[in-house]
Amino acid sequence: MYSIQASFVSSSDSYKSCPNNTLPEFAFIGRSNVGKSSLINALTGNKKLAKTSGKPGKTQLINHFNINDKWYLVDLPGYGYATTSKVNRNKFQKMIKGYIQHRKNLMCVFVLIDIRHPIQFNDKEFLKWIGENLIPFGIIFTKTDKLSKNKAEENISVYKKELLKDWESLPETFSCSSKTKIGIKSIITFINAINE
Ligand code: GTP
Ligand code: MG
Repeated sequence: MYSIQASFVSSSDSYKSCPNNTLPEFAFIGRSNVGKSSLINALTGNKKLAKTSGKPGKTQLINHFNINDKWYLVDLPGYGYATTSKVNRNKFQKMIKGYIQHRKNLMCVFVLIDIRHPIQFNDKEFLKWIGENLIPFGIIFTKTDKLSKNKAEENISVYKKELLKDWESLPETFSCSSKTKIGIKSIITFINAINE
């Protein structure tokens, strides 16, 4: 059992205006609509904490949530959504990459992947960038409720094979559904282990 007290701290448009960096921090990143904000709500058991939307591009700032006064969860804007303007895309890229490169208390970045889709170019590029910058990361496959168990497992194994073309070994991977809450607890367990 774990208990979580979560509260919103701040929205920042740059790493420079993020809250003090004395607590360990865990961030969620991935394409727009992949389910980052929904996952934060599932992890904290609070449906209204992070704003979600069926329309991509909902989260536009770096949002910090305080957990038990011990660590932060961070919701980030999505990258690479095709219908936002190029100017907007570049702005988000800069915000996200600046945050990831400069945030000293960032313990792990979770890269979210929609379990239904094959590997996408911008995910590959982003993972490559994370690797080059030596950022600790994990991968979370989201929306598992949308597929049968067999199909989900098949997609994950195809995805891992694809990744192994670029990577010598794979990071920690998780799969979950914010809707059914399957897989949510193992993410918390992982975070708690890092914090200890
Ligand atoms: P941006 O803020 O735009 O980058 O998107 P996001 O990654 O934060 O996605 P968000 O959490 O807002 O969810 C996008 C849509 O996917 C919403 O309609 C959610 O209800 C839906 N969704 C998120 N997670 C799940 C899931 O596990 N299962 C199902 N079925 N739907 C989900
Ligand atoms: Mg969001």
